[in-house]
Amino acid sequence: MKNYQITQWCAAFIRQQVHEGDFCIDATMGNGNDTLLLSQLCGESGKVLAFDIQEQALNATQKKLTAGHAPENYRLLLESHANIAEYAAPDSVSCIVFNFGYLPGGDHSLATRG
Ligand SMILES: C[S@@+](CC[C@H](N)C(=O)[O-])C[C@H]1O[C@@H](n2cnc3c(N)ncnc32)[C@H](O)[C@@H]1O
Repeated sequence: MKNYQITQWCAAFIRQQVHEGDFCIDATMGNGNDTLLLSQLCGESGKVLAFDIQEQALNATQKKLTAGHAPENYRLLLESHANIAEYAAPDSVSCIVFNFGYLPGGDHSLATRG
C-alpha cells in the first residue's frame, strides 16, 4: 500500500473544491505550499488572501510563489486569521485552508492556540 502524507490528502480535496475564478484564503501561509496550490487553482481571474503572523512566513511564501510562477492573484498579509472577517464577506469564499502547527524551520514555540 502506498503511503500518503496528510497534506497530500488535503490537497486532493482542495483540487476538487477550487476552480478558476474562485476567491480562496490560506489562513496559515507558513512556507506557502497551500498558498501556491490555491493561487494556481484560482488562476488569473481568481483571488487568494494568505495570512500569517510571522514575517518569515511571508518571505518564504513570496519566494515559493515567484519560483512556482504563480499568477498575480494573491495578497500576503502579516495578520492573524482571527481578523479574517475584516477581509472577506460571509459566503464569498470557496475554500479556506487552515494548516495548524508551527512554521517548519521556524520557532516551534509559535504555534496556533485555541
Ligand atoms: C504548519 S504552518 C502552515 C504551513 C503552510 N500552510 C504551508 O503550506 O507551508 C502553520 C503557520 O500558522 C501560522 N500561524 C499561527 N497562528 C496564526 C494566526 N493566528 N494567524 C495566522 N497564522 C498563524 C504560523 O506562524 C505558521 O507559519
